[in-house]
Amino acid sequence: MKVLAVLYKGGQAASEEPRLLGTIENKLGIADWIKEQGHELIVTDDKEGPDSVFQKELPDTEILITTPFHPGYLTADLIAKAKKLKLCVTAGVGSDHVDLNAANERKITVAEVSGSNVVSVAEHVVLTILNLVRNYTPAHEQIVAGKWNVAAVARDSFDVEGKVIGTVGVGRIGYRVLQRLQGFDCKELLYYDYAELPAEAAKAIKARRVESLEEMLAQCDLVTINCPLHEGTKGLFNAELISKMKKGSWLVNTARGAICERQAVADAVSSGHLLGYGGDVWDVQPAPEDHVWRTMRNPNGGGQCMVPHMSGTTLDAQKRYAEGTKDIIKRYLAGEKQDPGNLIVENGEYASKAYGQRKENATGQKPPGP
Ligand code: NAI
Repeated sequence: MKVLAVLYKGGQAASEEPRLLGTIENKLGIADWIKEQGHELIVTDDKEGPDSVFQKELPDTEILITTPFHPGYLTADLIAKAKKLKLCVTAGVGSDHVDLNAANERKITVAEVSGSNVVSVAEHVVLTILNLVRNYTPAHEQIVAGKWNVAAVARDSFDVEGKVIGTVGVGRIGYRVLQRLQGFDCKELLYYDYAELPAEAAKAIKARRVESLEEMLAQCDLVTINCPLHEGTKGLFNAELISKMKKGSWLVNTARGAICERQAVADAVSSGHLLGYGGDVWDVQPAPEDHVWRTMRNPNGGGQCMVPHMSGTTLDAQKRYAEGTKDIIKRYLAGEKQDPGNLIVENGEYASKAYGQRKENATGQKPPGP
């Protein structure tokens, strides 16, 4: 049987640091094990176009491993060509790079290593919130450039204390973000999610539910996006929705780039309607060199805190998602049931409630929250 893994290139860093498990060099630490099971493992980062290793190897592949950090985009067309494909494993969290409806039609199982990097992302969200609100990056750039101008950076620097912060989606990550903000004495912590938190969970993080997204945005000084990318969230933050946000507010997106419209975000930042935008996810990955999110600035020259897709791939997270990937494949090979928390689609149905409100949600595993 052929197992195909599309991972990111580690280069020198991966040869010097074996804990970079999510790279083509270190192969999630499963290369020997797959071989011992008598199967073939092909690992590549070459993923675009019909001549790529990904597309050439796919027709014979039974298990496909992909990662959100360097996504092998498994479109409906490619699924149609992947006649032997039975299992797609996302080494990480977020399976939007797979056409889940097409996977359902073919009864391909899509599983991810749920929870594997949720703390890593939540920490990055808090980092990005602090960075934007304190206007950290322009201040740091000033120092590196040999300059010293306190007023130029203090003019856009605030405290997190006393601010209203809201999350779109209060699942594993959104919940942990609000948990981690408890010490900052925010004025209010709000959430918008189509599913309500259990009362105890909401009480523990002093979060208030707002029933409409627009209503929540109008109240927030800062909004953090923590829901999956699906039909209901693609391009959700367009010019119209962003115009409902408070003038001078901040937007943090570590969920998926395509939840926000590229140009709408850039326009809102350069006009100053958004004082800043930050995150690690891009609508296309790797992001092209001329992607406007790399260079956008607010009218005072700051307000941009973008990094490559890295929040969920700390070395701690890589260990967890590498182990989780192995466990999913092990169960598949042994004909055992998968952990229900890891299943996104199975047997032609959505097994997760997180990818949109659907009547046909099969097992509806978990309510939002931790
Ligand atoms: P989760 O499944 O625990 O929670 C997602 C929550 O979003 C659920 O409560 C769901 O009801 C809610 N939701 C779905 N659609 C919504 C909508 N239209 N409006 C409001 N809420 C909605 O997922 P988890 O673990 O919290 O991860 C969330 C997303 O974060 C992932 O799907 C992935 O896209 C992204 N992620 C990013 C990483 C990174 O490295 N930047 C790493 C891990 C996840």
